[in-house]
Amino acid sequence: WVTEEELVPLAVFLARVSLTPSARLAFRLFQLEPELVFLFHYNSAHFSSVQECLSSSEFTEHIRKVMTVIDAAVRSLDSLPSLEEYLTGLGRKHRATGVKLESFNTVGESLLYALESGLGDTFTPDARAAWSRLYAIVVSAMSRGWWR
Ligand code: HEM
Repeated sequence: WVTEEELVPLAVFLARVSLTPSARLAFRLFQLEPELVFLFHYNSAHFSSVQECLSSSEFTEHIRKVMTVIDAAVRSLDSLPSLEEYLTGLGRKHRATGVKLESFNTVGESLLYALESGLGDTFTPDARAAWSRLYAIVVSAMSRGWWR
């Protein structure tokens, strides 16, 4: 269903077009962990390829949801505990989707990749460390909801 032959031309194609940060995140996610495509299915239909998943509106919408959560965390830097209940609930919902906790790290790496490749030198080591910490805070709150 997903082969090196499929991913390589896709990578060449994507490198030529100007990508939004969300598209960079999504592409990197499947480059690092292609099996994740199985967890995204809508109306009981599974995607038959990464390419199909990447171009579906439901999956694009999920990436937007991820970005919205990160954005909410950035906006609530001074009051992160106020997001605790929402984030633990979100973690609990994700356990039901069959995702493994470790896969959240892949999303984090993909986020850093999207920022780095989009911002270039502006994305300093300090900025990288700050984003990495912020994402870790979000994921640790989601993880606290895992067994509740
Ligand atoms: C919902 C999968 C990571 C935020 C969902 C759904 C699936 C899913 C299958 C339900 C269908 C949908 O709304 O599209 C995954 C997988 C992940 C992942 C496989 C990791 C590999 C994340 C992360 C965040 C996030 C890291 C936020 C930081 C959301 C939100 C929803 C959602 C906000 C909607 C929840 C609701 O309807 O109440 N996710 N997700 N997801 N996901 Fe994820």
